[in-house]
Amino acid sequence: MESTEEFKTLINECNRVKETAYCPYSKFRVGCAVLTEDGKVYAGSNIENASYGLTICAERAALAKAITEGHRKFKAMALTTDLNEFTTPCGACRQFIVEFGKYDLYMVKPDLSYEKYKYDLLPMGFGPSDLAAERVGQILIDRLRSNFGLNGLIIKWFESYLSNRIQKVKIGNVFSDMTSILETGVPQGSVLGPLLFSMYMRPLEEFKTLIKECNRIKENSYSPYSKFRVGCAVLTEDGKVYAGCNIENASYGLTICAERTALSNAITDGHRKFKAIAVST
Ligand code: THU
Repeated sequence: MESTEEFKTLINECNRVKETAYCPYSKFRVGCAVLTEDGKVYAGSNIENASYGLTICAERAALAKAITEGHRKFKAMALTTDLNEFTTPCGACRQFIVEFGKYDLYMVKPDLSYEKYKYDLLPMGFGPSDLAAERVGQILIDRLRSNFGLNGLIIKWFESYLSNRIQKVKIGNVFSDMTSILETGVPQGSVLGPLLFSMYMRPLEEFKTLIKECNRIKENSYSPYSKFRVGCAVLTEDGKVYAGCNIENASYGLTICAERTALSNAITDGHRKFKAIAVST
């Protein structure tokens, strides 16, 4: 691969396109190029915005170019900045990159020397398979049955409606291995009671609240488009729990994930340090 013409083009293109970066705020120029399965190279640079959060990173600009030209499969991506070191994609771009499967990432220095990134880009990440699967609306159907006692024709109607919006819903929480801790309890009648309470029970109570809250807040999920409800809770360093749910938007890209609403609720209340986060779908 590295000795091919298309690979050379990939490396050159990510460097060339960096010149087109629109980054009046950060002055941090990034260039990226992707090589499609059939050997075409598309390049993109970062595009900033006065509303900083709307900035498009170079990786997403390059992929957007290729994807809007109809490509879905890629062999490699190359990324460069003005720093004389190897730079890797931000978290949001990693999510965007893995949406289209696995392909090689090359980190490129301004002198065009390069190195292949050898780790998993998004370990245990959230991806298309989490949303699209056979477990489907079955969970929603079950909820309709048990919450509203629906059956017969009405359920049939919901089933046909939901079958156009196939999705998988994961039940449980990401810390399921830790829930067993909740059942452990504390030795009763111990003379060390107060001490044990502060050392052991209080964190346990905090943890219980965290798990309960992330599950409870899910009910408030605003997810009319995906119907995929997510709840999240964060535990601050000083033992407070803040919860948040996903808030979708007709312009899908503006959707706020539950993790961000929970953190945002805590952060706007002045918190900066956290002990734990729990997510439930
Ligand atoms: N940037 C990218 O283009 N890709 C990344 O992976 C990290 C950050 C851009 C966005 C923004 O224009 C500037 O670098 C500073 O964050």
